[in-house]
Amino acid sequence: MFKTRITELFQIEYPIVGGCMMHISGPEFVAAISDAGALGLMASAMYPSQDQFRQAVRRVKSLTDRPFGVNLSLFPAMRPIDNELYVEVILEEGVPIVETSGHRPPEELLTYLRSAGIRTMHKCVSLRHTLSAQRAGVDAVTVFGSEGGGHIGEYGLTTMTLVPLAADALDIPVLAAGGIVDGRGLLAALALGAEGVTIGTRLLVTDECPIHRDLKEALAAATELDTLPILGSLHNTLRAWRNPAALRVAELEAQGAGLFEIVSAAAGAGSKRMYDEGELDAGVIACSQSIGLVTEIKPVAQVIRTIVREAAAILGRLAE
Ligand SMILES: Cc1cc2nc3c(=O)[nH]c(=O)nc-3n(C[C@H](O)[C@H](O)[C@H](O)COP(=O)(O)O)c2cc1C
Repeated sequence: MFKTRITELFQIEYPIVGGCMMHISGPEFVAAISDAGALGLMASAMYPSQDQFRQAVRRVKSLTDRPFGVNLSLFPAMRPIDNELYVEVILEEGVPIVETSGHRPPEELLTYLRSAGIRTMHKCVSLRHTLSAQRAGVDAVTVFGSEGGGHIGEYGLTTMTLVPLAADALDIPVLAAGGIVDGRGLLAALALGAEGVTIGTRLLVTDECPIHRDLKEALAAATELDTLPILGSLHNTLRAWRNPAALRVAELEAQGAGLFEIVSAAAGAGSKRMYDEGELDAGVIACSQSIGLVTEIKPVAQVIRTIVREAAAILGRLAE
């Protein structure tokens, strides 16, 4: 069911990619997503050294025989990211798939990866950048709508708008990201012209997701009103869960605080404390508006299977 150019390209059972999540998408979680028939994506930027990244890649390989990928981040970061070190590992360890995310596609890097036989995709938030990604030769693009959790960019374009625009404009397959948490979302994305979906927020509220149980429970209780865009003053807008840490960042921005103060308030160290220790106001976590549709902590495999079954059942009903 739902075989598309994306399932063929990545050799996966379902047209679903588990969106990479900083400080979260480590080996066990990524392997659980791939084992469930979707594509797990590691967050390379969470590894401070090349060796730690290599050990993590090896661990994923030891946990699953299914395809998985690595995300390379081009977003501005507190700790300078040397993607070349990660790329060396990707090539040496035979990682089959790489996603880059930022806004503008890194043309040289993508050409290099493709020449090494790696399947590539680029995640972006505007039609213009999908077209440059296609020109750069990527195998697929992900368009990320602003209802989603993460770096949604400055245009405020929604999944509903971006997906059909990209599907019409591009020859390569399109993945839809932003706001998709169930079978309705998957089927809607396919109807809009996507050939797969990338989901992040729904996978946060799963047994295997390595964040504290208290945080999962708080997210499961959150509504569609419990997110807000922050960091727009730095032209790096992030949709986040509306907790005291995110509200503090928003307040600093409204007061015209300096770069250092704002970046420190949103820094990953606080988020990590919240993920590891369940201190719910310690940091910022990206989160989709569709968190309002997520109410239960479930195993990853059940989430993925339920999304596909629901989409198939709706399709059957609509066809009658
Ligand atoms: C907690 C969290 C962390 C994320 N971290 C990253 C990241 O480091 N790099 C990236 O490209 N996308 C990141 N994303 C975005 C996801 O990969 C994915 O594109 C997004 O979650 C899809 O929208 P959804 O949350 O509505 O499903 C993150 C999302 C969440 C929820």
